[in-house]
Amino acid sequence: MTAVPARTAVVTGGTAGIGLQTAVALAVQGWQVTVIGRDTERGKAAVARIDQAAGTPAARFVPADLSSLAETRALAERLTAEGPLHLLVNNVGGMWTHRWESPDGIEASVALNHLSPYVFTEAMLPALTAGAPSRVVNITSSAVMAAQPVYEPEAVEPPGPHYGMSATGRAKLAHLVHTLDLADRLKDTGVSVFAADPGPAATDNAAQMTIDILPPPMRPLWDQILQGVATPVSAAVRSPLTAATDTALDGRTGLVLDPTGTPSEALLGYATPEVTTAVRAWTRRLLATA
Ligand SMILES: NC(=O)c1ccc[n+]([C@@H]2O[C@H](COP(=O)([O-])OP(=O)(O)OC[C@H]3O[C@@H](n4cnc5c(N)ncnc54)[C@H](OP(=O)(O)O)[C@@H]3O)[C@@H](O)[C@H]2O)c1
Repeated sequence: MTAVPARTAVVTGGTAGIGLQTAVALAVQGWQVTVIGRDTERGKAAVARIDQAAGTPAARFVPADLSSLAETRALAERLTAEGPLHLLVNNVGGMWTHRWESPDGIEASVALNHLSPYVFTEAMLPALTAGAPSRVVNITSSAVMAAQPVYEPEAVEPPGPHYGMSATGRAKLAHLVHTLDLADRLKDTGVSVFAADPGPAATDNAAQMTIDILPPPMRPLWDQILQGVATPVSAAVRSPLTAATDTALDGRTGLVLDPTGTPSEALLGYATPEVTTAVRAWTRRLLATA
């Protein structure tokens, strides 16, 4: 009897935190998983942990700095040359207390939460289409709700000082717009596109946050946020894993899953027609120059 080839997945930022936990869970379910990150030692440790959990060689590490659009495009070229792909989890992203810029001179929240996964997914579409039925899972965040009060749709960054929550919120909102656009564009191709909110979790990225991520009016929420980011990472895998594997979602697309893995409308209302039009325009502008 011929063995059925394993389903293949790529998890960006898959060497730590929510991405690693997702990769472990996928491998335990029989997936072959490629994890992407920058640090080789961390990559090796992730592969060892995934293989051990799966009880068989199930993982490999491919290094890339996804804050660089050139490296993102080169990675996609390498991976699409390998043939069909069944699952892409765009997990790389985060929220930073201090403003910093990508090698392309783009504010990091926008570069890593929106532009990089945008470029990567578009470049991976030949492999995902060849692998159909396949899925794209974009990791989103309830920070989207913090984008709205400071959202000036025509501006790439929020006006005024850098607040990580607002910056990440608007970058995740921009990526939600792309998620919905892509789901619509691919609806007859067998490639489903979902956004998954893992909820807060105790990861390296969360550990570097200080109250300065919050605009002053939001600071009374800090204790609540600290409680949230004490949640074990294992709890944050539910939404991404459901989006990636739940057969109840077969044939569906364009859904946003809340941290319990349930389709939810909560974040969709922030992607208003005005925001959608503006995000499409400034994304095109940024990509034309980067
Ligand atoms: N943690 C939370 O409370 C929370 C809540 C809602 C949503 N999220 C979302 O969940 C996702 C994962 O966050 P996390 O908290 O799990 O992060 P994390 O623990 O800090 O892990 C980040 C992962 O991404 C990799 N990475 C970071 N920068 C990279 C780059 N430039 N290029 C390639 N790989 C890179 C890291 O490996 P290297 O450092 O070796 O590159 C690591 O594997 C993000 O999209 C985040 O916005 C998190």
